[in-house]
Amino acid sequence: MQHGCAHSDLKNSSAESPVNFLRHTQPVSKEALQDLVQTGRVHSAVYTSSEIFELEIQRIFHGSWVYVGHASEVPVAGDYRLRQLGRQPVIMVRGNDGVVRVLMNRCRHRGAAVCEVEAGREKFFRCWYHGWTYDNTGKLVSVTDPAGYGETFPTEDYSLTPAPRVETYRDFVFASLSPNVSPLEEHLGAAAPMIDLLVEASPLRQIELGAGVHKTVYNGNWKFVGMDGYHPHYVHASVVAAWQRKSDSGVGATHRADPFDGKSQTFTRDLGNGHAMLDMREHRLQHYAEYEKFLRGLPGGPGYIDALYSRDGEARAKLLLAVAGDPHVGIFPNMQIINNHVRIMVPLSAGRTEVLMFPALFKGVSPEINAMRLRQHESFYGPAGAGSPDDAEIFERVQRGLIAELDPWVDISRGAHREKVEADGTIVGHISDEVPQRGQMKRWLQLITAGSEN
Ligand code: FES
Ligand SMILES: [Fe+2]
Repeated sequence: MQHGCAHSDLKNSSAESPVNFLRHTQPVSKEALQDLVQTGRVHSAVYTSSEIFELEIQRIFHGSWVYVGHASEVPVAGDYRLRQLGRQPVIMVRGNDGVVRVLMNRCRHRGAAVCEVEAGREKFFRCWYHGWTYDNTGKLVSVTDPAGYGETFPTEDYSLTPAPRVETYRDFVFASLSPNVSPLEEHLGAAAPMIDLLVEASPLRQIELGAGVHKTVYNGNWKFVGMDGYHPHYVHASVVAAWQRKSDSGVGATHRADPFDGKSQTFTRDLGNGHAMLDMREHRLQHYAEYEKFLRGLPGGPGYIDALYSRDGEARAKLLLAVAGDPHVGIFPNMQIINNHVRIMVPLSAGRTEVLMFPALFKGVSPEINAMRLRQHESFYGPAGAGSPDDAEIFERVQRGLIAELDPWVDISRGAHREKVEADGTIVGHISDEVPQRGQMKRWLQLITAGSEN
């Protein structure tokens, strides 16, 4: 198990980021960008302008850390997943040497994608155009009819190009097309201990994201997704009502006491660097006894509880069990850990976004506990879920509304007068306040105006 940040093999990295070649003089000045994000309000162009979207791709998705995937998705040598760094296609692949790499999915001959299947296991990637063949570490191992290149052709210089920076935190793989980003651990900052809340909920401190993926595409901006504690009683009114009635499922047990009623010990928290959470730790602890009773009734439940108590002591074990792997945290710009899944937001255009949801299972618990986690996930997410289709619908309504430009400001001022900075530097507000939105836009503005230097 990997704990902490690990640097990838960078031997093949070029000093220059490929993204530098994509830069072009853009017409939006720094001052104009700064005008888009004002105290408590954001201009709708931030969500609707294709010019702004291009800058986001270049400066945020191609210029800073983005989440690519989890090592448990590629457990065996040769396992791979196709992913995107912004709009650039990459292969996350575990090589025969056991190292997980992030390689550009682009043949070094004339540029064809060398892998077309979304997920699989391969010893080699053979380009379909002229047959150049790479092993699963990205090394070019064979060129069709090599005599055509003479004897001095430097095959070793034609490996699949790795992302200039790849680092992992507890098996979560992040990459950056810019070599100039700060170390991942610095980027994650106060959000790292929230990722720990998911990982350490497994008795083996290992999670598995290989159960499959729910995918959805909505016609709305990527920044709409998540970390809003103001909407559940409206968008999810029917689900909240069901939670109140139903205590015989994990969701019922954790949510029976409504975390969004405005009176609970639930908070919004800006963790810095654009990361933010709906912090329900206190609330879950207050209602832990009920959840433990539910968990004890599941096959393997008592053993799971005992395992965490003996491993971590009562206080930490209670917290981990109560949170149940759900820190409800967003890692800017494209990752969230919400309820029982890890989520990737893929920006397609200013008004179109794909969301990939990977249920997270715990290693070291009974199949029944993991099955319960999956059933919980399905109850809210996915095409037949009771919750996420409503979120997608409201995001599309927002995008449609933002077309009206006479008064183009989006208000994110809620709770600004009552937010507090805690000793660790994080900013805390009421669960319904727009602390996360302000935190995300602060980071957005920083990256969009500074290019890739962050
Ligand atoms: S483009 Fe891949 S072998 Fe020619
Ligand atoms: Fe929602």
